[in-house]
Amino acid sequence: MHLTKEQEKMLDGEQGSITAKMMRLLVRLGDVYKAERMIPVASVQVAGVSYKSIGDAGLDFLEDIANEARVKTITFLNPAGMDLENWQEMGIEEDFSKKQIAIIKAFRKMGIIISATCTPYLAGNLPHYRQHIAWSESSAVSFANSVIGARTNREGGPSALAAAITGFTPYYGLHLDENRQPDYVINVKTELKWNSDFAALGYYVGKIVKNKVPFFTGIKKADTDQLKAMGAAMAASGAVALYHVDGITPESDKVEITNLEKVEFGKDELKETYEKLNTGEEPDIVIFGCPHASINEIVKIANFVKGKKIKRKFWIVTSRATKEFIKKTDIEKIIEEAGGKIYADTCMVVSPIEKLFRTTGVNSAKAAHYLPGFCKQKVVFNNMEALLS
Ligand code: F3S
Repeated sequence: MHLTKEQEKMLDGEQGSITAKMMRLLVRLGDVYKAERMIPVASVQVAGVSYKSIGDAGLDFLEDIANEARVKTITFLNPAGMDLENWQEMGIEEDFSKKQIAIIKAFRKMGIIISATCTPYLAGNLPHYRQHIAWSESSAVSFANSVIGARTNREGGPSALAAAITGFTPYYGLHLDENRQPDYVINVKTELKWNSDFAALGYYVGKIVKNKVPFFTGIKKADTDQLKAMGAAMAASGAVALYHVDGITPESDKVEITNLEKVEFGKDELKETYEKLNTGEEPDIVIFGCPHASINEIVKIANFVKGKKIKRKFWIVTSRATKEFIKKTDIEKIIEEAGGKIYADTCMVVSPIEKLFRTTGVNSAKAAHYLPGFCKQKVVFNNMEALLS
């Protein structure tokens, strides 16, 4: 792979041994994927933040890096294992909180913005069309590539960190036009009303197309919350990092869709997917916000619960940035009066909810997919109104 003088110097250790190690990792990655060169990245998003996911080994690794290296480009962080301000109220144990705070401290020392969200594009890190970035949270990667038309591979935690510290990523995969062409046409033959319907569609399709690129037809309208739910589910049940929706996503009129394998999604497939994702009956808690809830989603929940006493405990998880906006309205009060709580910086999958609950209700197919394995939860998957009724 061709390296510029600046990149060669990094590789030779002129900027310290950690930067050299990070550059080595990127060069190896580039060699594996036959990248011709490196490209600068406009922003990075780093996953692997929760103490629950990375443990002591991850904390040691991050502290070593933080002792020497600083990021060179704007870098956001994925959710942590707890609300960084209200962890006690969430029921998080003290030992866990200490380790989590140490992880955050290491990231802060590197110069990373403690955004703690999987929706950086809703929290101040919005790339533009065709801009090259290096993000690692799978739902954020899917949204950036598909809905915004920015360009990122699905980075692992270490390769994203390497991009942040060097400012570069190898030029391969979804950074290139030729890899953004669809492999499947998905013909949607049923009406999709709820965000959970879009999530179910994504879940069904991800299982079939795995890491390929689907092109959806038959979706008449979809808002960004619905697209974020669908993309997150596809990235969880498969490894879809890019999809196109006819007439809606920005590259849908620039790709070729002749001679592709076809998949149909109708009423039966929608019903079957809901059934598959339901493993529990009566939830101890309902948690919304996978991916992190947008202001629009929180407002919709507030409008639905206004003036009611919801019989189940419910949480909404979101970014700190969104929660700050919400604080300036009466939305939080409406939600709390109905029995709900809004937590920031974390989510139902990366926080240790297995210590608190056994059955969780969600409208996210991604959460429904991970909760049984990561959090030992039975799951009730349904739309927002049904879960709160
Ligand atoms: Fe985000 Fe957690 Fe879901 S990181 S996409 S809310 S599993």
